[in-house]
Parts: sequence; C-alpha cells; structure tokens
Amino acid sequence: MAILHILRYPDSRLHKVAAKVDRVDDRIRKLINNMAETMYAAPGVGLAATQVDVHKRVIVIDISETRDELRVFLNPELIAASGEADCEEGCLSVPGIYEKVRRAERITARALDAEGKPFTLEAEGLLAVCIQHEMDHLEGKVFVEYLSRLKQQRILAKLKKQGRRAPQPEAGRPVL
Ligand code: NI
Repeated sequence: MAILHILRYPDSRLHKVAAKVDRVDDRIRKLINNMAETMYAAPGVGLAATQVDVHKRVIVIDISETRDELRVFLNPELIAASGEADCEEGCLSVPGIYEKVRRAERITARALDAEGKPFTLEAEGLLAVCIQHEMDHLEGKVFVEYLSRLKQQRILAKLKKQGRRAPQPEAGRPVL
C-alpha cells in the first residue's frame, strides 16, 4: 500500500470528469487500497479518485469514529434525493477551509462495491453529505464552487498565502 499525493485546489486536474470503472481488476483493487490508506492517514472521512489524479469513478468513505468501517463506491449514482440540509464541509484538497454547503438531506445511492457487486444504500446526515461531496469530485466539482464569487476569491487568497504549509484537518470537523 502507499500514501498517494492529494491534489490541492485550484489545481485544474480537480476539474476533470472521471470515467466509469469497466471491471474490478488488480489495478482498481490497488487503487482502492491506496486511497483508503491515504484517507486514513490524512485523516479524512472520504476521498475520491479525482483527488489523487486518477480519473476513475472510485470513492472511499469511512465516517465511523473507530475508523474501521470502510465503504467503497464504484460508479456511484444517486437514484433518489429529498429534503435540504446545510452542513459544514471541509475537503482534503482545500486544506484549512470549512464552509456550509446546502445539499439533499436524504439520498439513495447505487454503486458497485469493492468486489464489483451492485448495492443500493439509503443515507442521511454526514454519510449523505459525504457521498454527494465525493460524487461532485468525480464530476470535477469542488465544494467551494457552491459559494459566492467573493467567498471563492477570499478562499483562493487564503490558500495562496498558506502555500505548502497546509493546516492539518481539525478534529470534529468533517474533511471530505
Ligand atoms: Ni473533497
């Protein structure tokens, strides 16, 4: 296993649209393992392949306190969404920035698991936020792009100022 380099906003590679996974082979299995290790090391609660510059529809998530409930989504799709909720989000690609984003409160997602078996999952709360946030990454969208232009400009200035010395994720704040 290996810890992968996470792209930082505003890297243009974060805007690439990911391609479908055709089949679960050794390359995909290795990618999943390395993404999980990278997410746990960061630490974050979710990571999309786009963030490690692999443009395949692969997401890993673990929102558990104990960090032992890895969820893998290949080719995820939303098949239902309802309600609205504002939740503060952070992102491993936008270190030190936390902003509220409005998303669907409850979702039903369909995907393939790490073995390529289809499953359907109903989610709400942080898990629902996380799935939507990571699915955006696969479409080339970063959460700060939901904010006003003024806020985005302030964030870009802040990121430029912090340079390579990125702050560590803060305990108790979801970093997706
Ligand atoms: Ni993110």
